[in-house]
Amino acid sequence: MKKHFDVLVTRRLHRSALEELSKKCNVMLHSGKIPIPKKILMNKIREADGLICHPYDIIDKEVIQAGKNLRIISTFSVGFDHIDIDFARSQGIKIGYTPEVLTNATAELTIALILDVMRRVTEGDRLIRNKRWKQVFGANDYTGVEVSGKTIGILGMGRIGKEVAKKANGLGMKVVYHSRRPISKNLEKRLNLKYLSEDKLFENSDVISLHIPYSKDTHHKINSKIFKKMKKTSFLINTARGKIVNEKHLITALKTKQIQGAGIDVYEIEPIESKSQLLKIENVVLSPHIGSSTEETRSKMSHITVNNLISGLEGKKLLYSV
Ligand code: DGY
Repeated sequence: MKKHFDVLVTRRLHRSALEELSKKCNVMLHSGKIPIPKKILMNKIREADGLICHPYDIIDKEVIQAGKNLRIISTFSVGFDHIDIDFARSQGIKIGYTPEVLTNATAELTIALILDVMRRVTEGDRLIRNKRWKQVFGANDYTGVEVSGKTIGILGMGRIGKEVAKKANGLGMKVVYHSRRPISKNLEKRLNLKYLSEDKLFENSDVISLHIPYSKDTHHKINSKIFKKMKKTSFLINTARGKIVNEKHLITALKTKQIQGAGIDVYEIEPIESKSQLLKIENVVLSPHIGSSTEETRSKMSHITVNNLISGLEGKKLLYSV
């Protein structure tokens, strides 16, 4: 029986996790351009028994087919929309992922974006650096919107949605939500939230925060029709997946003041293209897909990703399996 496995890692993990991996596997660590160019991926995956990938890497049918020995794909993420899951399964390939550990970190970033865009923190930072502070000294020259007392509409009430609800309650926000399956009345009461139809959610919320997975069904779910339903004074927050939002329509909605602002962590194309109009708009706060990016969380994710991979190679049950 083979003692050592060959594994491809598309981007550096924490050193201790890589050391753990190296004890049992020959590690091919991609250290060049991120995301790993498809040509290199296709070439290296030929020799790999296991793959550790990231949300930027597109693991489609063609890539999976090239991995003739591939037995496990372990993604460093809770989302797995970048992997052709159905095809991988049809080939008997297991898929590992990293839920739970990043719930708090992602919910914290959601709250950070809400506070930032509504209180205009990053915009103010730009203003200071551009030496324009003297122009905004009047009583109402540079006002933001108070967060406390406003209504947040959470779309998707999974783990992250629930954590955002708790934190929003703590800020004094009213919390309403919509999800395919409403949660139990008991939990609604405990989390102090109210279920609304999707239309009512968009019409009544001051902040809409997205916490649904990306799929064919949610592709461009947030589009011009939705922006028309939203209040002109409302804000959109997206820490879920970029392609849930039609970015062109979002840009128009921001430019024409159909909504008041947005806080965005995820994009249709990542890293964001340098020509993106979003970079030129003031009433939007942009972060570089850092929902899970705290030292505490990312370190746990590295170890879970490695653990899932090794378990898969050794034919054991994965810690977290898709
Ligand atoms: C995930 O894990 O899917 C997150 O988007 C990564 O930050």
